[in-house]
Amino acid sequence: MGPYFSLTAASLLLASGFAGVPSALEPAGEEAQQIAVLFWVMLSGGAVIWLGVVGLLLHSALFNRRVLNERSASRIILWGGVIFPSVTLCALLAYALWLMPGLRPFAQASSAGLRIEITGKQFWWEIVYHPSQGPPVASANEIRLPVGERVELTLKSADVIHSFWIPPLGGKMDMIPGRTNRLSLMATKPGVFRGPCAEYCGTSHALMAFSAVAMEPDKFRSWLAAQAIPAERAGAGGGALFLRHGCGSCHFVAGTDARGTIGPDLSHLGSRVTVGAGILPNTEDAIARFIARPERIKPGSSMPAFDMLPPDDIRAMAVWLRGLQ
Ligand code: CUA
Repeated sequence: MGPYFSLTAASLLLASGFAGVPSALEPAGEEAQQIAVLFWVMLSGGAVIWLGVVGLLLHSALFNRRVLNERSASRIILWGGVIFPSVTLCALLAYALWLMPGLRPFAQASSAGLRIEITGKQFWWEIVYHPSQGPPVASANEIRLPVGERVELTLKSADVIHSFWIPPLGGKMDMIPGRTNRLSLMATKPGVFRGPCAEYCGTSHALMAFSAVAMEPDKFRSWLAAQAIPAERAGAGGGALFLRHGCGSCHFVAGTDARGTIGPDLSHLGSRVTVGAGILPNTEDAIARFIARPERIKPGSSMPAFDMLPPDDIRAMAVWLRGLQ
């Protein structure tokens, strides 16, 4: 438990050092709030113990240098070295175990209705929303959540182990091939947060991220309803080039003949905060760069380069994709 928490603390402090990146120490969700409280309890407890030990050390080194008799020394070891650490560690363990059921409240999640299925792939995220009513809605590399409602997440992997984590909303959970893990989250404040992949999964592990958008419930519902229907411009200009150059054999775009399932669903790419799974701002330029040389932006990704296409074609496809709102 000790090394795990000190590592977590170190990574949390590092994460909070980056300006503008939401941190686990600025919780915007119920689970993250509880984890932050646990962190502060452990940090303050650790600080008090450290001060006590350093105080005793200074006291014995500077002010009280007499040699203790064997009886007093044994008593200090028994109380300070055995009883105190055992009691403190047991109390901390009991507190953490007491928190745990609250961090995994599945019963509440199922009754709330919305379930989001997330599958980790090298190096992106497949997302499927399963609302309580209506058909499933597919997306990629961005999850949206209604504020104040508990959402159930089912986490899977298609290749290697990835790990799902939205620091300001809750704890992390591994995505393991052949297994379905469940997590439930409740956002308490609207906002856009970055979710990194938290388990080394290959060359572009550090470039595997997603955006999590917590929205007011009615905005969320109208957004989800809009996602369920094909984007308006699905048949226009660059769309024909997209199909002609074979992009549709890997990517799905609702309302067109692009029906591939190997790569991310691009049906509403234009409405997402980022492209390339959390690494580039969603602009026509970024999309064009990704189409031309994906391996430069995301080494090890399965998408081949298309820089042999005329730049005008790439540009037209980028404009069309950006228009898929
Ligand atoms: Cu996926 Cu690291």
